[in-house]
Amino acid sequence: MHIPQLLSQRFADAIARSPFADQVDDIQRLAGMIRIAGNPKFGDYQANFAMPLSKMVSGSNPRDVAQQVVDLADLDQICEAPEVAGPGFINLKLRDDFITNNLVAMLDDPRCLVGQVDSPKKILIDYSSPNVAKPMHVGHIRTTVIGHCLAQTLAFMGHEIITDNHLGDWGTQFGMIIYGYKHFGDPNVVAADPVPELSKLYRLVHQLMSYHKAVSSLPKLDHQIETLSLQREEALKEAEAVEGKEAKKKRKLADSISKKIAGSKEGIEKAKSTIKAIDSDPEMKSLAEKHSSIATAVLEETSKLHAGDEENKQLWEQFLPHCKDEINRVYNRLNVSFDHTLGESFYHPMLRKTVDDLRERGLATESDGAICVFLDQFDAPMIIQKRDGAFLYATTDLATLKYREEEFSPDEILYVVDARQSEHFEKLFAVAELTKLTTAKLVHVSFGTVLGEDGKPIKTRSGTLIGLESLLDDAVEAAYQVVCDPDRIVNLEPPMGDDEKRQVSETIGIGAIKYADLSHHRTSDYQFKLSKMVALSGNTATYAQYNYARTPSILQRNGVTEKDVHQRVAESGLILSHPAERDLALMLMRFEEALSSVYDDYAPNHLVDYVYGLAESFAKFNTQCHVLRAESNEIQTTRLALVVLTGRVLQLGLRLLGIDVVERM
Ligand code: ARG
Repeated sequence: MHIPQLLSQRFADAIARSPFADQVDDIQRLAGMIRIAGNPKFGDYQANFAMPLSKMVSGSNPRDVAQQVVDLADLDQICEAPEVAGPGFINLKLRDDFITNNLVAMLDDPRCLVGQVDSPKKILIDYSSPNVAKPMHVGHIRTTVIGHCLAQTLAFMGHEIITDNHLGDWGTQFGMIIYGYKHFGDPNVVAADPVPELSKLYRLVHQLMSYHKAVSSLPKLDHQIETLSLQREEALKEAEAVEGKEAKKKRKLADSISKKIAGSKEGIEKAKSTIKAIDSDPEMKSLAEKHSSIATAVLEETSKLHAGDEENKQLWEQFLPHCKDEINRVYNRLNVSFDHTLGESFYHPMLRKTVDDLRERGLATESDGAICVFLDQFDAPMIIQKRDGAFLYATTDLATLKYREEEFSPDEILYVVDARQSEHFEKLFAVAELTKLTTAKLVHVSFGTVLGEDGKPIKTRSGTLIGLESLLDDAVEAAYQVVCDPDRIVNLEPPMGDDEKRQVSETIGIGAIKYADLSHHRTSDYQFKLSKMVALSGNTATYAQYNYARTPSILQRNGVTEKDVHQRVAESGLILSHPAERDLALMLMRFEEALSSVYDDYAPNHLVDYVYGLAESFAKFNTQCHVLRAESNEIQTTRLALVVLTGRVLQLGLRLLGIDVVERM
């Protein structure tokens, strides 16, 4: 049930049958101008096509045109008599029996009246795609959670979904653990407990590399500050010399240089703290001295792996399954899985040919020893092979695109990847168009950064990114404190045992993290604040889950099962007797609208808003409408039906967000 679509179809038919039909182009677009009413006093929906329509119809005015269309439209079964208001808005109020008939139908429909799309698309979703060999961190939550929600939601709408986890299983991070293993690893220790040991090796190599990078960055940063300071002085001097607008411009320039200076100073502070961490630890200090060219050595190990070096290949084969175990533990906990996990290594054998093909077709050319694809709309070309022969991330993405086209011929490919990779994808899509690699619509479903409570990208105190697993543990602990508070659950019968408490906290904690992430529009950054995420009130998963859990408990208190409610509805039918019932009922019927807006801009927050709105309507209904002491049998039956349906839609909506419910909390 997509009410605006239904209404717009009726209006489109009416316009097509009107005397001015042949003067109107794009009837569907005009008729589609249906919005939820701004003020519920005037109705539930509002049609806004009369103004643009009257511009197309010679000698007409919006109010008359609106009235003519309304007179022709077949809306009797759906709405009360529509009202033309103001300059030509059409106010639409749904009939109560239209609503109740739909509620009855909804009771029998496991899809909660959500239709299947008319023209299903084949959509490949590339998401999660972490670089393995290093522990997953908070940055991976967004792609995983957003991608999973899109996959679930679009599949439910009737699209054919293929999910692919494009693992980074072939990059420098493997050069790092190979180097770490060769120099610092103990084969027995690694064999006995591979996952944490490999993580440790990764972190050690990372720390040593960062140290040397920081050391060499200091003089550069100092120099940068010097140059910038001179530039700023100059700008300020020039500002003195001129007047008005010119002076203002110069002062603005000086300000922006000041900001750059502050940035460089921050860089120095960061570099100093990285250096201090090693300098203050004699053991680390001596390691750093011994491994002074670690960065080059790591690149060499990576190149050797790519060139098929026996030893490195064998180590990679030995390590990879353990790295996968590590990420799979997180996926199990998040309840996420993929149709395919075709990592970068899978495409390695295709890279040579990818480059050769483009060269043969004259689309890639050599420049400064590197192979590049030049693009009109970009200053810098896309480099697909470096001077030393190495292929790049972009080369792999081109090979991947070709493979996906041949293997799946999708209609759309969604790349759920951090906004910081925007330029990479803009170029990739431009090259795809230039080379006619695919006919699929390519979309970078980009997202913003997770910030700590200080408003900066979230980090631990030692400055490393927070591991995803410890974050999940923290969330579960925070959920436990809130929902298993002894005072809160004292009245539960039978009392909650330890197993149930653990299971409830896991569901609530994981749900909290996912929901908080999905509740922001994906392109905005958001602050990670656990106490807010697990709160029982506000726009949280906990609030939605709590309201869900009230539904079975209300049925129980009334001594009825879902089946009984069906039976009673079949016998007495439904009647709306209170505005809170009607609001809730209308909300239930808007589920499909929410799902289709998720698809419109690949943004799960529309579904979150819906779930929150539904939970709020239900909470209001609960305080205003008594079920047990309802005024009549029919009213009680209606309220019970609303409770059953709310439970179902909340559960399904949360499921599409990737979030579970509990039966009591
Ligand atoms: N592994 C990459 C990273 O962590 C993301 C890959 C996204 N997918 C792609 N086809 N490029 O940055």
